[in-house]
Amino acid sequence: MNLLIKNGRVIDPANGIDKLADILIKNGRIAQIGKNLKGKRRTIEAEGMLITPGLIDIHTHLREPGREDDETIGSGARAAIAGGFTTICVMPNTNPCIDDKTVVRFIYDRARETNLGNILPVAAITKERKGEELTEFGELVKAGAIGFSDDGNSIRNSRIMRRALEYAKIFTRPIIVHCEDTGLSAGGVINEGYLSANLGLPGIPKQAEEIIVGRDLMLAELTESRIHIAHLSTAGSVELIRQAKKKGIRVTCETCPQYFTLTESAAKDFDTKSKVNPPLREEKDLRAIKKGLLDGTIDVIASDHAPHSAEEKEKDFLAAPFGMIGLETTLPLSLALVDRRFPLSQMIAKLTINPAKILGIDKGTLGIGEEADITIINTKAEWTLKLENLKSKSKNTPFLGKKLKGKAIFTIVGGRSV
Ligand code: DOR
Repeated sequence: MNLLIKNGRVIDPANGIDKLADILIKNGRIAQIGKNLKGKRRTIEAEGMLITPGLIDIHTHLREPGREDDETIGSGARAAIAGGFTTICVMPNTNPCIDDKTVVRFIYDRARETNLGNILPVAAITKERKGEELTEFGELVKAGAIGFSDDGNSIRNSRIMRRALEYAKIFTRPIIVHCEDTGLSAGGVINEGYLSANLGLPGIPKQAEEIIVGRDLMLAELTESRIHIAHLSTAGSVELIRQAKKKGIRVTCETCPQYFTLTESAAKDFDTKSKVNPPLREEKDLRAIKKGLLDGTIDVIASDHAPHSAEEKEKDFLAAPFGMIGLETTLPLSLALVDRRFPLSQMIAKLTINPAKILGIDKGTLGIGEEADITIINTKAEWTLKLENLKSKSKNTPFLGKKLKGKAIFTIVGGRSV
């Protein structure tokens, strides 16, 4: 595939590039970045547009196999491409769970058939994500597992968590942890506090997250292993990780747009579209999450795209499942944070090179010779999120009807505009 992208603002944080330039793609790879590049090939005029490495989502839930009525690999891939993501990592809470090499291979097969972007399976840490018996890390890595996570569930048994960290170190794959003390959170549906009491809904205290963040940081220290902490939601978690990084513990972490855009009040009218796990928190947590992003404590922005059908989400607040979709809103909601103090390149790093480094993949950069995964963004485009335009099969987002700014207008995978 040969392609010329002209006159865009090229931001490649991995190589410290932020300049007006053209990009020449030859045979699916980045051949040249410079001024006035010419040639007889398909051209995209990108004047006024932003050109970045293809966005990477380290945390996506697709529902295939098992709940294809909520999302398939095909519909999820289309949502990813629409949102500017060229690579997504899919979590193992499918049915069957990605705890076996045949399921890893199935994901790759379906991704190949879909032929829209890179879909990388994250395998379960424990069989059926029950927290009891470790999966076969070696076999799963050989089959192509990009990392390990029991996401949706937290591993209660510290000894099993310790072993998981030790094995992951041998196979140099990241462990991505969902931090929740399920004894403490049991039955809870929103943040515990004044609002939960007022609404008469059982709450989830922030400590349910922070206790396990603290434990897992200690286990990472004990094993000298890397650990990646998923979907941070509280000020206390940000501070624990800030201190751990200072101590030299090998920790990275992510948050999701809902935690720097919304607070618990989004659920005050019992809107189940705002029911997520961990729950939306308070204004002071939102501010701490933003500060953590700004000072580098939080490395990555992930979508935690969690599709659930309208039928499921229309249940009452207690019964409805946790989760909101995010692949098609993560980019604009992240761009909304950019200001004089928070440069665009720093934001783009959290969606490109930072997740690539954690995953250990040759992506997230516009280096010469690299595969041409590129996102072209109109940062000025203002648009309204409408149900009928969503590519995701499930429409469970509280941002429906909201005005957003910034849109991926071309998503290019391996030099092919998809
Ligand atoms: O809100 C959530 N939904 N949090 C999780 O950890 C799992 C996810 C899902 O799979 O629906």
